[in-house]
Amino acid sequence: MADTRPVTLALAGQRVLVTGASRGIGAAIASGAAAFGATVIRVARSAMPPLDGAVDYRADLADARDRDRVLREIAAGGIPDAVVSNAGAFMIAPLEETTDALLREQLAINLEAPLAIARHFLPAMRGRGRGVHVLIGSVADAKAFAGNSAYAASKFGARGLHEVLCEEFRGTGVRCTLISPGPTDTAAWDPVDPDHHEGFTRRADMLCTSDVAEAVIYALTAPSHVHLESIRLGPA
Ligand SMILES: NC(=O)c1ccc[n+]([C@@H]2O[C@H](COP(=O)([O-])OP(=O)(O)OC[C@H]3O[C@@H](n4cnc5c(N)ncnc54)[C@H](OP(=O)(O)O)[C@@H]3O)[C@@H](O)[C@H]2O)c1
Repeated sequence: MADTRPVTLALAGQRVLVTGASRGIGAAIASGAAAFGATVIRVARSAMPPLDGAVDYRADLADARDRDRVLREIAAGGIPDAVVSNAGAFMIAPLEETTDALLREQLAINLEAPLAIARHFLPAMRGRGRGVHVLIGSVADAKAFAGNSAYAASKFGARGLHEVLCEEFRGTGVRCTLISPGPTDTAAWDPVDPDHHEGFTRRADMLCTSDVAEAVIYALTAPSHVHLESIRLGPA
């Protein structure tokens, strides 16, 4: 039977977890999901912007103990209908300056945290026979850029994680989508100052956070018989 509800309420009655929702792409995804009727569960280390009806948690997702604590708290309220693993960190450095510590930092938030979050919720979603997992990758999850060794290692790894999740949960009702954005104008670029450095997309030419959020909403509201495996988007 066709879904006759107005499109804007396509997520009504759904609980959608968004990690890294205190700013940037995550904040846009959270407000977008709320606008489509979802109850949004937000996680980040710092305070979240105002959003009616949102349920907020503060946690360092790169810290295993703190992460497991917050995931248990969220699960105690019921397994979300959808999980958007967006929290991440971006850095650029030449190889000789890419220390083991910097690599570990990138792997902890961009790869270990998404795997742990998937591990915490997807088996339960499978038991329920339905659920959506959206992972925010990057153009750098499949394309190399000089100075991106640690970031790319973590994002290529995240894409590998996603592709395995697609196979492991295929046909179980759990649908996994990788969203790989190109340069998007957020605070993540502040340390790089792309407008004053050669070889970078100028901020004015980058994607807006709402462009990425709309791709995520498309994945979250896709009919249950449709599996959107990957969306790659960038400045035209
Ligand atoms: N901007 C781009 O050009 C671009 C392009 C492709 C992909 N991406 C990806 O998109 C995602 C969001 O990036 P963004 O540009 O919106 O970056 P951002 O503005 O720096 O926001 C990052 C978000 O992640 C959260 N976060 C970071 N480390 C965390 C931790 N240890 N524990 C909990 N939350 C943490 C931050 O919150 P707190 O600091 O409050 O904890 C913040 O809410 C990332 O996965 C990034 O790799 C970005």
